[in-house]
Formats: sequence, C-alpha cells, structure tokens
Amino acid sequence: MLLIDKHGRNIHKLRVSLLDACNMKCFYCMPEKNSFHRSDSICSKNIIRLVKTIVANGIDEVRITGGEPLIHPDLDFITKEIGNLKLKKFGLTTNALGLEKHLDTLLKNNCKYINISLDAFSRESFHTITKVDKFNEVKNSIVEAKKAGAHVKLNTVLLKGLNSHELIPLIEFAAQNDIEIRFLELMKIGAALDSHKELFTSAADTIAQLNSKFTLTERPMPIDSTSFNYNIKELNANIGFIASETQHFCKTCSRLRLDSYGNLRPCLMMQSGLNLSEMDEDMVTKALKDLLEIKPIYRQEKLTQPMHQIGG
Ligand code: GTP
Ligand code: 5AD
Ligand code: SF4
Repeated sequence: MLLIDKHGRNIHKLRVSLLDACNMKCFYCMPEKNSFHRSDSICSKNIIRLVKTIVANGIDEVRITGGEPLIHPDLDFITKEIGNLKLKKFGLTTNALGLEKHLDTLLKNNCKYINISLDAFSRESFHTITKVDKFNEVKNSIVEAKKAGAHVKLNTVLLKGLNSHELIPLIEFAAQNDIEIRFLELMKIGAALDSHKELFTSAADTIAQLNSKFTLTERPMPIDSTSFNYNIKELNANIGFIASETQHFCKTCSRLRLDSYGNLRPCLMMQSGLNLSEMDEDMVTKALKDLLEIKPIYRQEKLTQPMHQIGG
C-alpha cells in the first residue's frame, strides 16, 4: 500500500518521538525553563500499537527521536517491536550520551541508522552549547558506534561564532572514521527563535568558505533527502547540508511524525495534529488520510513550540 498525498508526495517515513525529556540542554533546543510532561505520557505498548498501524498503511522507514530516545525506560522493548516490522530502514537520532551500552541491543533489534548530534569539536564549545561537559564521552561513543557496524551520520547545527571555527576539525574527525557529517541551518523553532538573527549561518555561506580552501564535488542524493551532499577531495570526506531555512524541501517531503503525546502531525512546523492515543485501528487509518489532506506543501515560517517536544 502507498500513502500518496494530494500533492503527489509518497509519504513513507515516520518519525516517532518517544519522550520530550533530554539529558543535555542545548540552548537552541531546550528552553531555560523547561518542563517535561512525563517520560512516557502514552505507554510504550500504545506507541507500538500506533506505530504498527501507521506502518501497515504504507510506511517503510522509521526513525525514533526524543528529547533523547536513549533515556526512555522501555527503549529495548520499543526497538525490539519496531525492529520486527517489515521496514527498509530503522534508525534513531540521538545525542549519543551513553550510546555504547545500548549498541548491542539496538543493532540486534535492527535499529542500525544512527544519526548523532555533534555541534562542536572541543570540550569548551561542546560545554557552552550543550551545557554538559561530555565532549570526550560523546566522541568516543561515535567511534564505538561506527566500529560496532552501525550506519552513522553526524549532525552539526551551524552556529555563528560558536562552532564556525571547528567545522574543519569536525569534518576531519568524521572522515577519519568514515562517517558522513551534515551541517544544519538553525531552524526558527522554539528556543532558537531568541538568538536566530545573531547565530544563523547559511549552508551557501559555509559552502563558499569550504570552496575557497577545498575541492567540493556534488554527490547524488535520494529525491526526498533532507540533505544535499558533497565530497571534499583533499580531506577524503563526505559532507552534506540540511538547508531547512534557505532551501526548503517541503515539495519532496515524505514524513509524518508521531509525538510523545500521541499526536500525529503532518509536518515538523505544524503543532496541530490528531491525537491517536485513544483511537482504534480503523480510526487511525482514517486519521492518516485526513492528515495527508492538510500536509503543507509550503514551509511555515516559524514555530514557537520547543524542539525537544517535537524531536528534530
Ligand atoms: P535520514 O535522512 O534518515 O538520515 O534522517 P534525517 O536527516 O531526516 O533525520 P535527522 O533526525 O538526522 O534530522 C536532521 C535534521 O533535519 C533535523 O534536525 C532538522 O533540522 C531536519 N529535518 C528533519 N526532518 C525534517 C522535516 O520534516 N522538515 C524539515 N524542514 N526539516 C527536517
Ligand atoms: N534547528 C536545526 N536543528 C535543530 N535541532 C534541534 N533544534 C534545531 C533547530 N532549531 C537538531 C539537533 C539534532 C536534531 C534532532 O535536531 O541538533 O541533530
Ligand atoms: Fe515536510 Fe513540513 Fe518539514 Fe516542509 S517543514 S519538509 S512539509 S515536515
């Protein structure tokens, strides 16, 4: 079965935010005064029930997110259940704190596509951005995940003056470990709204800077990729850019998101969705069709809801 929306987009990816809590406090994601609802406001069995029904309607890729998904108390159960579904790709997006101790289980449960946030390449900058002094732990986890056989990608949000001077060391680290690194434009969401003007750096400016030092050649990408990709010859590096602010990819968007409140939302930038937590299978299937009708084709400018509640 295919889920095709009224703009002809094939919706085949589901992102599932397991909880809104996190063990880091990246200033652009987590507001100073945060309040988490409950770590698992809808129970894990219910999450699985909903994911199964949504997947049966035409989803072939699932990515779990947070807050921070690794701190969910039922992570093993949840990944085991999702890993048993017929999927082309199953992955998670994480800050990698404590990732090593979950690696065996994740891989055993087919959760192999691990995207890791790494916004800095020094202890100081990492601490300033994330508010935790854990740079070395995270760096080691990344190396371990790759060694264990996961498909690892790094995500670095471009933050003017905070990590601009560390982009090349980040690229070198990624290349040395045969990992792709993607640079993300800071999106106008939640806590990032306060400092957006002062910190925003575009993908185009970053590419121009890299181009002045290195030889960048384009690499092919899937039609519904969030990133566009390059190879840097001199560093033997594969890099990408997610230019969510300056080069919208809504026209080829293939995602739906289930948040940890049980809301299925048609778009990252739309807080409104349909709450599925009390719905039976038929109602969920009908809700999916209704959501496809309202999935936007144009990018909404900004969103005040904090990112840790949405899951990136
Ligand atoms: P893969 O393609 O499976 O590697 O994952 P991904 O790039 O979709 O997922 P990831 O969780 O690594 O997301 C990286 C960043 O992409 C997020 O932090 C957002 O900045 C951006 N992003 C992800 N999904 C969306 C989306 O639906 N809309 C927009 N505008 N940006 C998104
Ligand atoms: N803009 C871009 N990316 C963001 N993330 C969190 N907030 C923002 C934002 N405002 C990223 C995290 C992580 C992913 C899940 O979302 O850095 O890589
Ligand atoms: Fe898709 Fe909305 Fe993201 Fe655009 S902003 S790519 S429509 S989820």
